[in-house]
Amino acid sequence: MGAADILPTPAAPAAQASHELGGRIADAIRAAGGWIGFDRYMAMALYEPALGYYASGSRKFGADGDFVTAPELSPLFGRCLAAQCAHWFDAAPAAVVEFGAGSGALAAQLLESLDALGSAPERYSIVELSAPLRARQRETLAARAPALAGRVEWLDALPERIEGVVVANEVLDAMPVRVFRWREGAVFERGVACAPQGGGFGFADWPADDAFAARVLAVLREAWAGVDEPVGDYVSEIGEQAQGWVATVARRLARGAMLLLDYGFPRAEYYHAHRSTGTLQCHYRHRVHDDPFVWPGLQDITAHVDFTAVSRAARAAGLQPLGYNSQARFLLDCGLLDRLAELPRDDARLWTKQAQAAQMLLSEAEMGELFKAIAFGRDVPDDAPGFATRDRRGALA
Ligand SMILES: C[S@@+](CC[C@H](N)C(=O)[O-])C[C@H]1O[C@@H](n2cnc3c(N)ncnc32)[C@H](O)[C@@H]1O
Repeated sequence: MGAADILPTPAAPAAQASHELGGRIADAIRAAGGWIGFDRYMAMALYEPALGYYASGSRKFGADGDFVTAPELSPLFGRCLAAQCAHWFDAAPAAVVEFGAGSGALAAQLLESLDALGSAPERYSIVELSAPLRARQRETLAARAPALAGRVEWLDALPERIEGVVVANEVLDAMPVRVFRWREGAVFERGVACAPQGGGFGFADWPADDAFAARVLAVLREAWAGVDEPVGDYVSEIGEQAQGWVATVARRLARGAMLLLDYGFPRAEYYHAHRSTGTLQCHYRHRVHDDPFVWPGLQDITAHVDFTAVSRAARAAGLQPLGYNSQARFLLDCGLLDRLAELPRDDARLWTKQAQAAQMLLSEAEMGELFKAIAFGRDVPDDAPGFATRDRRGALA
């Protein structure tokens, strides 16, 4: 039984849109001679205009969507990030550039909390690829931060020059990845072909081109140094687009800091010999599975982040590392427990809900350890409060 058999069936219009997207992907595969890289498939499944997962109007975040992100869980998340941003505003212009702002929940939380701290940004820029999400962000901001919504602008493309604080929560994991298969020293690129019986898609491995093979071998050589036992068949991903994005944003950050939160590991852990099936994950109505070909356009497809690669890309662009730690430690250092304690307790049900959300953000079994916070800066002091008590940046050398 495959994932398609156990996942809930979508309503007819959604299923129809998915079939239409499947047709476009099949056309792209045929036009390319029968095979496309997984990165191309993932880009179409997530971002194809009007039909891709993030380009369509479907509900994605929250209880009635497919997954829950930290700012959807609790405003405490944004309040903690605000404490960190306010600190950076002492050394950099009071401006925020948020990438992939989802429902707009984090933007509303940051604006309100920074205002409460006396550090409201003069400008809050959102770079969002998805038109329906932009509309949703406008609604959220008008409802939750009406006094400050006028300071928000939406940008179609990455700004040429950034001064202030860049924030991206769970954005890197949504960027298309290339997939490889390593078998007895030979490297293949894992891509996508049409299923032989018609209808649907399947993985197909082709010998990797020289440049990709060299990149894969360099990564594995580094990650497997000192591994004695032979590694068998091995599949994983390389987040080339995420690394390129970090490099570009880092180059354009003229003054200020960049704070990224996402799930992932340092390189040695990401490409651990025992993690032999990679980190691709799909999210559909709060079910997590590993079949990216189920209902294209209706489910999220993600890959974990190689934080060693992220760190190297930012440093190569001249940024200084300001910290790397688990999300739990970062939030605790930003004062999450004090902020929880400040919440009114007159409504026991509401308070319990926030306490449970804090537990989910902090718990090692939930988002506390798998999720990481990483920060870099240019011309700001290396004294970020969010990384004050412990800092694992040494793990990313
Ligand atoms: C998992 S959602 C996270 C949404 C939100 N940050 C949150 O925490 O709820 C990923 C978001 O990243 C956006 N995204 C992916 N690549 C992007 C890019 N290159 N620039 C801006 N946004 C991007 C997607 O459109 C989507 O809104």
